[in-house]
Amino acid sequence: MMKFKQDNQSFIFNNDKREISLTVLTPEIIRFFEDHGEANPSFAIEGDKQIKTDVSVKNDDNKITLKTSALKVLVDKDLHVDVYDRMGHPLVLDYKEKRKLLDRGINPEQEKLAASEGHNVNDGLEQDKILVIKKMATDEQFYGLGDKTGFLDKRGYEYDNWNTDNPDPQVESFKALYKSIPFLIGVKEGHPYGLFFDDSYKNHIDLGKESQKYYYYSAKDGNLDYYIIGGKTLKEVITNYTYLTGRVPLPQKWMLGYQQSRWGYSVSQKEVSRIADSLRDNDLPCDVLHFDIDYMDGYRVFTWRKDTYEDPKKFIAELRDKGFRVMPIIDPGVKVDENYWVYQEGIKNGYFAKSPDGTVYVNKVWPGDAVYPDFARKEVQDWWGKNIKFLVDLGTCGVWNDMNEPASFNGPLPDDVVFSDGEKASTHAKIHNVYGHNMAKATYNGLKKLSGKRPYVITRAAYAGTQKYSTVWTGDNQSLWTHIQMMIPQLCNLGLSGFAFAGTDIGGFGADCTPELLTRWIEAAIFSPLLRNHAAVGTRSQEPWAFGEPTLSIYRKYLKLRYHLISYLYDRFYHESKTGLPVMRPLVLNYPNDKHVRKMNDEYMVGSDLLVAPILMEGQTARQVYLPKGEWLNFWTNAEYTGENTILANAPLDTLPLFIKKNTILPWDKERDHVDPDDHDLMTFRLFGDHGNYIHYQDNGVDFDYENGKYNLYEVKITDQTFSVDISHFGYDKPYKRIDLISDQRKQSFVFDEKENKYQVMK
Ligand code: GLC
Repeated sequence: MMKFKQDNQSFIFNNDKREISLTVLTPEIIRFFEDHGEANPSFAIEGDKQIKTDVSVKNDDNKITLKTSALKVLVDKDLHVDVYDRMGHPLVLDYKEKRKLLDRGINPEQEKLAASEGHNVNDGLEQDKILVIKKMATDEQFYGLGDKTGFLDKRGYEYDNWNTDNPDPQVESFKALYKSIPFLIGVKEGHPYGLFFDDSYKNHIDLGKESQKYYYYSAKDGNLDYYIIGGKTLKEVITNYTYLTGRVPLPQKWMLGYQQSRWGYSVSQKEVSRIADSLRDNDLPCDVLHFDIDYMDGYRVFTWRKDTYEDPKKFIAELRDKGFRVMPIIDPGVKVDENYWVYQEGIKNGYFAKSPDGTVYVNKVWPGDAVYPDFARKEVQDWWGKNIKFLVDLGTCGVWNDMNEPASFNGPLPDDVVFSDGEKASTHAKIHNVYGHNMAKATYNGLKKLSGKRPYVITRAAYAGTQKYSTVWTGDNQSLWTHIQMMIPQLCNLGLSGFAFAGTDIGGFGADCTPELLTRWIEAAIFSPLLRNHAAVGTRSQEPWAFGEPTLSIYRKYLKLRYHLISYLYDRFYHESKTGLPVMRPLVLNYPNDKHVRKMNDEYMVGSDLLVAPILMEGQTARQVYLPKGEWLNFWTNAEYTGENTILANAPLDTLPLFIKKNTILPWDKERDHVDPDDHDLMTFRLFGDHGNYIHYQDNGVDFDYENGKYNLYEVKITDQTFSVDISHFGYDKPYKRIDLISDQRKQSFVFDEKENKYQVMK
């Protein structure tokens, strides 16, 4: 017999074997919970997300039906849970039979033989404590899961969520990378849904590798705690998911500029100056120089080496005068050194993780013996946030967090190292996947408090929800054509998983780049939200000038294109901060009904106006491009195409196949070598096609004033007859002095009339 109890918007069901609860948070979000004895503060979700929602309940012959305005849930006497949309289309249905382990057709003798050459054939066949199995439709597609390797549609593959630092060439057989974002998007017979499994313990998701009939989620430990997320479209599912776990906050505008990095530059002031000067001498726009571990004194965090820097503060100010900001790396590992203040303070206050025997836990990272801050504790986060003052006072622009899986030179830390889970002493097994999250959170809050500006944090490790605090990059890729190929699905799936501000190491981190690969990479990545060229120490140089011409000129051409479109990207982030929808996105997000784009791995869109179809293969100088429904223009030639067609695009080495939806207006920033938030002289809008509308957002690009209404919204309209600019929200006191609207045939300038607070046609 099933028993059933309602408590406001929560519904508790039990039979003789189990008790589960369903909590309606919003009409489109329902939480499933089964207690397995683990304290469960969510690291991903902050604040109360429940809103008052009407739920109708029907109790029918031992079958309970709950209905909101968007979802219908059926629970039977065995506590199977089936979720449909309001129209009755199945979304998430329990699979009512048992898992059948993949038969690899191998006998023990063969297995032993294969293992002797290092093949682990039965990997992944273990059974976990927590398990839920869902029915899979024949055409079901899967997206999301953050930065996993492989392709856009995850069907047919299995993944682990266990933050992993593995510098081997990352290919689609890799089950885990640096981040754990257990948010899965499914599309069943055309109907989208999301499932967010909120468990920090190591977990596993098999999306039809084991079976064609089901997909499953399993976890080593924790509770069975997941959210079923509805929405009429894929976009609505993402908006709902980011309502739950948070959205990327508006960045400072210069964060969208180009960034130059290499492990090794920051070894000396002289070397950094050489890079900065080369960027300017070669007329390459750039906003940020990254300082890798070499700037520190013996890899001690919150120190600066003195032997190769005369006066870091002065040097950073000089770079700033040339338009560069400095982004220093900070790793979690604190050097064991009795004479070092960070170590001393942490030891005195008991801020570091402990071994089960109660002594401070020590492992090896860059500084040699190092200890690990216990980041889930509020006081440790506050302490870390305060330590950042050292960097803020020097005039740096943010903090780049690395090695926070947490990594060590001896592989993952043992499961039983004692860390707090935020409430009480717990284990590394539980906090591993949220370690980077908590470090990024501490960093964000510290920077915000100290500077009052929108913090610039980049993190390698992350959990669901880290997008509220940090930008991410995809870690140690390599200079391989397979990795430029992987960039598109990887950044697109990160975007679908809430991480709208992401990027990959352009040119590849490990291995040696070639001129052609670097050229195609800067073309392919030119709209990736985070735009950074980064490489490992000891690899072949891959600065824009490293290979001479024509690489340098082509690289410059694309950086200039990027700088013309910084305001456009910023507008996309404004939109993202309201909706959670990614800036760089797969075509399926904009065209969910178009079968051609469901597995599109080699094209992407920026918002809904630009379509990018880069060359991702050595030697290619032309490619097929699928254009979805609508009218399209070749960005470079203005040639017109009708969508739902595949065209052949010419792509000599200097050409990125780039298309724009006909009748689009783009804000077009003037040429410059870095983003200057104080420049309000001129903004240009360019029309592509015959007519268009555009809404443009402007604020000071730096701090949180916009939260108090200090921003402007411009409505730009161009038709055959009229060119117009209106300010629909006027809250920022530095509107552009002049605005130019440009079409193929005409140019019209407007000037701001300070008495009337509006734009007048310039005579
Ligand atoms: C890690 C990071 C890489 C960095 C290096 C040295 O490998 O992923 O970006 O350059 O450490 O700090």
